[in-house]
Amino acid sequence: MKGIIFTEFLTLVENQWDEDMVDDIIDDCDLPSGGAYTAVGTYDHKEIVDLVMALSARTQIEVPTLLQVYGKYLFSKLASHYPQFISKAGGVLEFLEGVEHYIHVEVRKLYPEAELPSFETSRLGPNQLEMIYRSSRHLDDVCHGLIEGCLEFFKVEGQIERTPLEDGTRFLIRLPES
Ligand code: HEM
Repeated sequence: MKGIIFTEFLTLVENQWDEDMVDDIIDDCDLPSGGAYTAVGTYDHKEIVDLVMALSARTQIEVPTLLQVYGKYLFSKLASHYPQFISKAGGVLEFLEGVEHYIHVEVRKLYPEAELPSFETSRLGPNQLEMIYRSSRHLDDVCHGLIEGCLEFFKVEGQIERTPLEDGTRFLIRLPES
């Protein structure tokens, strides 16, 4: 998993708690990287799960909540790192439809080693989008947070419904009738 995913997570921890919390959770885990991440490096995705579990143990906040909050924060960071991907989108649902065939395709060109999920999307109406998330990393909570971050970024009050499937997770995004 790309270093940006880790560096942004540790920045979030530093902002919400402090630098000692960052050092403590790194010390709590036996990380192959030793906790030294660079934005362009690639690391085992299990390290993020270990760091989140360590943060959960120290803060008593549940792991899924932490992952979701992190996903939401991550979206705002990705949007500011890669503004070119946002500017082409019409609305939030068009943007979300483009994650699989445009954004992550561009990400893969930049980082051929990126580990990306797959999304299958269908429009269930002008204001409703179904997204089926599949990934061997099972970061459903991060994905949920990313979609929330996206709605916030586009300043829409949508609803997100999540249903587990046998081989993935279905997200239904419903915007208010316009
Ligand atoms: C500007 C928009 C976006 C950019 C630049 C972007 C880029 C990236 C990058 C760099 C990674 C890490 C790949 C790796 O570590 O190897 C990633 C992973 C991921 N992205 Fe995106 N992304 C964007 C939007 C979204 C949105 C809106 C969603 C959700 C609908 C999403 C879902 C995910 C998930 C869940 C992962 C974690 C990997 C996995 O689950 O297998 N991304 N993305």
